[in-house]
Amino acid sequence: MNRGTSRTALSILGVIELPEATIYYFSGTGNTWAIALLYKEALETAGWQVELAAIDGLAGTPEVRGDLLILGYPVHAWNMPFLVREFIESLPERKGLKAAAFMTMGAISRGAPAITWRLLAEKGYEVLGVEEYVMPTNWVLGERAGTEESFYALREEAAKKARQAVADLVAGKVREVAFVDSEIEFSETSYARFRRAFPKWAGEFTVGESCTLCSLCVDLCPMNNLRMEGRTVVYGKECVLCLRCINLCPERAIEWRDKTQTIGRYQAPGFAKAIRAAR
Ligand SMILES: Cc1cc2nc3c(=O)[nH]c(=O)nc-3n(C[C@H](O)[C@H](O)[C@H](O)COP(=O)(O)O)c2cc1C
Ligand code: SF4
Ligand code: SF4
Repeated sequence: MNRGTSRTALSILGVIELPEATIYYFSGTGNTWAIALLYKEALETAGWQVELAAIDGLAGTPEVRGDLLILGYPVHAWNMPFLVREFIESLPERKGLKAAAFMTMGAISRGAPAITWRLLAEKGYEVLGVEEYVMPTNWVLGERAGTEESFYALREEAAKKARQAVADLVAGKVREVAFVDSEIEFSETSYARFRRAFPKWAGEFTVGESCTLCSLCVDLCPMNNLRMEGRTVVYGKECVLCLRCINLCPERAIEWRDKTQTIGRYQAPGFAKAIRAAR
C-alpha cells in the first residue's frame, strides 16, 4: 500500500488534519470489491483519506493506521472465508480503534455478522457496525436464479444502502447486530464442514479444450492453487472456493463436475479488468 501520502491538506485557514480510513477486503468475483469502492468514494466525498487494499494482495503483517478500519468479505457457507478469519486474527490489537465491517451475499448470512463483530472486538476495536449487502450470487456450481435486470436492481439497492452506511459511520453512529448463540453455532459448524470438502471439490474442476493457456486463472487465484503443467492447468488442494477461476475464465473453459455446463458465469462489472490491472 502507498503509505507515503500525507494526512494533511492545505486550506485557507492553514494545515488541517484529514481523518483517515483503511479498507481491507477480500473478493472472489467482484461484489465485495464493488461495495469497497463505494465505501471509499463515499468516505472521500465526506473528506476522508482512504487506503483500499485487497487482503489476498498483501505481503507481510497488515498495518492498521488512521482512525477507522473497515473490513469487507463475501459470505461463504454462512460465515467468512477462512483467509478472512486468518487475516482478522493477524491484525494488531489496538484499544479503541474504530472498526466496521460489511459482507456481500446471495441471500443470507445467519451468524456471520455476530462472529465478525466478536473477532474485531477481541482486538480491542470499538465496533460501529457490520452491514450486509444482498448481491447477485456467484455460486455457479449448481442452480442459479436471476436475470441481468434483477442483478442491476440488487446492485442499485446495495449502493444506496452503502452510502447511508458510510454516512452513519462518519457520524459515529453504532448499528448493533443480533447475537444469537444458535445462529453463531450454525455458521461455525456449517463452515467447518464445508471447509473439509475443499480439497475434494477443488479436485473436481476440469479444464476443457477451449483453454487457450492464457494463464489468467493461474495468475489471479488468491491461494496460488493453480499451475500450468505442460499444456494444461492443474488444480492443487489449497482452495478457498472463491470461484474466481471458473467465473473469470475468458474462454469458459472451466467446469465443475457435470453441474456447470448450462450455467452462466458471474463477475461484478469491470472486476476482471480491475484485478488484472492491479497485479
Ligand atoms: C463458496 C461459496 C459459498 C457461499 N455461501 C453463501 C451463503 O452461505 N449465503 C449467501 O447468501 N451467499 C453465499 N454465497 C454467495 C456469495 O456470498 C455472494 O455471491 C458474494 O456477493 C460474492 O462476493 P464476491 O464477488 O466479492 O466474491 C456463496 C458463494 C460461494 C462462492
Ligand atoms: S483462464 Fe481459462 S483459458 Fe486462461 S489458462 Fe485458465 S482455464 Fe485456460
Ligand atoms: S482454485 Fe479457483 S476457486 Fe480455488 S481459490 Fe483459486 S481461484 Fe478460487
